[in-house]
Amino acid sequence: MLFSAALPAVFLLFSALFVAANDPNDPDDDIRNFNNVRYTAALTVGEKTINVILDTGSTDLWLNPYDGVGWFEDTGVSHEIRYGEGATFINGTIGLADMSIAGHDIHHQAFINVSQIAGLDACGSGICGLVGLGFDSPTAGIEKALTDGGLDGPKIGKSVLSSIFDMNPDKGRFFALSLSRLGDAKDTAEASLSIAEYDPLYAGVQWLAKRLVYPPTAKSWRLLADGISVNGASVPWPAVSAATPAGHHVVLLDTGTTNILVPAPIRDAIFSAVPGAFLAKNSTLRNSHWSADRDVWVVPCDTPVSFSVTFGGQPYPLHPLDLTDLRTQVGPDGTTYKYCVGSITNGGTITTGGTDALYGDSFLRNVYTVFSFGDNTTATPYVQLMSQTNEWESTQDFAHVRQQQLAASPGTEIHPAELIHLFDGVEVWHDAASTTASSSSPSSTAKLAGNLADVDVAAVLGDATTPSKYVFIIIGLLAANLLIVLVLAVLGVTNLVRGRRSVGPTRVAYMPTRTKDDSLMRSSFEDRPYSDK
Ligand SMILES: *[C@@H]1O[C@H](CO)[C@@H](O)[C@H](O)[C@H]1NC(C)=O
Ligand SMILES: *[C@@H]1O[C@H](CO)[C@@H](O)[C@H](O)[C@H]1NC(C)=O
Ligand SMILES: *[C@@H]1O[C@H](CO)[C@@H](O)[C@H](O)[C@H]1NC(C)=O
Ligand SMILES: *[C@@H]1O[C@H](CO)[C@@H](O)[C@H](O)[C@H]1NC(C)=O
Repeated sequence: MLFSAALPAVFLLFSALFVAANDPNDPDDDIRNFNNVRYTAALTVGEKTINVILDTGSTDLWLNPYDGVGWFEDTGVSHEIRYGEGATFINGTIGLADMSIAGHDIHHQAFINVSQIAGLDACGSGICGLVGLGFDSPTAGIEKALTDGGLDGPKIGKSVLSSIFDMNPDKGRFFALSLSRLGDAKDTAEASLSIAEYDPLYAGVQWLAKRLVYPPTAKSWRLLADGISVNGASVPWPAVSAATPAGHHVVLLDTGTTNILVPAPIRDAIFSAVPGAFLAKNSTLRNSHWSADRDVWVVPCDTPVSFSVTFGGQPYPLHPLDLTDLRTQVGPDGTTYKYCVGSITNGGTITTGGTDALYGDSFLRNVYTVFSFGDNTTATPYVQLMSQTNEWESTQDFAHVRQQQLAASPGTEIHPAELIHLFDGVEVWHDAASTTASSSSPSSTAKLAGNLADVDVAAVLGDATTPSKYVFIIIGLLAANLLIVLVLAVLGVTNLVRGRRSVGPTRVAYMPTRTKDDSLMRSSFEDRPYSDK
């Protein structure tokens, strides 16, 4: 833990170093990264320290330790919270207890003493609760439940943040987060949560643009995004809701969601623009994150996806390691295969209606984020984003790390089209026609890949009895592969040039990766999104 006594007493910065062990049961770490899937803060109640998920997508606090919270004042009011599409929920009664979190002691904080939990991380993973970092509302959550129960909801049902802000009336009503990325070249194990102060490492964030929540009356961390781009080409995002200004989409910045969730057509448009990527519909292959469907985009493991999102005209690049994940799976032939999947998945009903997308941890790792409930200059709540990812460095980093991941991973790697044929028994092709990206190079590569995949790869490679019939096709395949390599090389150079031109703060110098590879460790717990919106 990086905690300097030289900092002012009210300075509430917590950093934790998750080096080799990253032991989820070590109570001394305050902010923890569980395999890039969940981020938690240590909350102490009585003698107990509980790792609670940091969730900007909800407001209430709930606790579910194995052996109970211990003594607390029971209001007798029961309350239930449903998340995501609704099948996941917690249920229990609202209690009041003295607790401390992020260096603050809070008297009589309201929380839900969980008695029923469904579809969510049970305590077994080392995560035994959740703290909402969203907005108080008299018409929702614990506050409303208490009011409905005849108690003073606004007074005793405040969120953890409101409790802390009210205790520090001379300080700003904001918090700021930096989320670490395990498994990159820096293996950045540092994460920080600061309440009413900035992490000194990123103090410059206070001078950056204040991006107002959208709509301005929204009691949630939703922003209006301009768009997204893949390999430098913008991906059209047709307006979903008539209320959304043309050319924009509404995103919820949600630390309780592991990845990025978008409507299926947007996901398909994104990965269609990636050279050599193939879509497996309703597949037996598996996504690395929760998805509303079983469609899986298989991406060549060594292909860095250059992806950025734009807010207020400013692009924020994502680290390519946040766009694809390496998986292994035993095929129908009994052989273990390794393959890479796109990490942006289908949000289903979560991404229809008022929210077009959930930008979870795989976006938030790339920015230092200030979440302000408003101040004396800007009454509307706002967010400030400070980019933490340099395109050039992260592309270098990706090449190095992915190579190590592949070397360390068991299994055979085969062409995505061949893999999909093997697992699902269907022929797939990279549908160049549906490629919506306007840049010429990715789509021409897509056409090339399409030509390659139009050939029945499995038949070509599997049928040795009639070599003469296939020899030209095989030569064609080799030529196509060579061309893909050349095109990728050209794309690589393009990225390099763009990376050099890119603006933004200088990043920590490139350092060799340690051999330990956290990103290969798949968490045992589900990563369903936590969003009650
Ligand atoms: C939650 O608990 C309350 C009281 O214990 C009960 O009335 C309610 O039906 C429960 N909700 C669910 C979804 O089980
Ligand atoms: C809190 O929840 C635990 C676990 O469900 C239960 O055993 C305990 O009785 C509850 N405490 C109160 C005061 O309701
Ligand atoms: C997806 O595949 C499963 C079997 O693996 C099948 O039961 C289901 O109906 C399919 N869903 C769709 C939408 O095709
Ligand atoms: C706004 O609040 C800050 C402290 O939070 C204070 O320094 C500043 O003077 C205030 N500005 C106005 C215009 O009141």
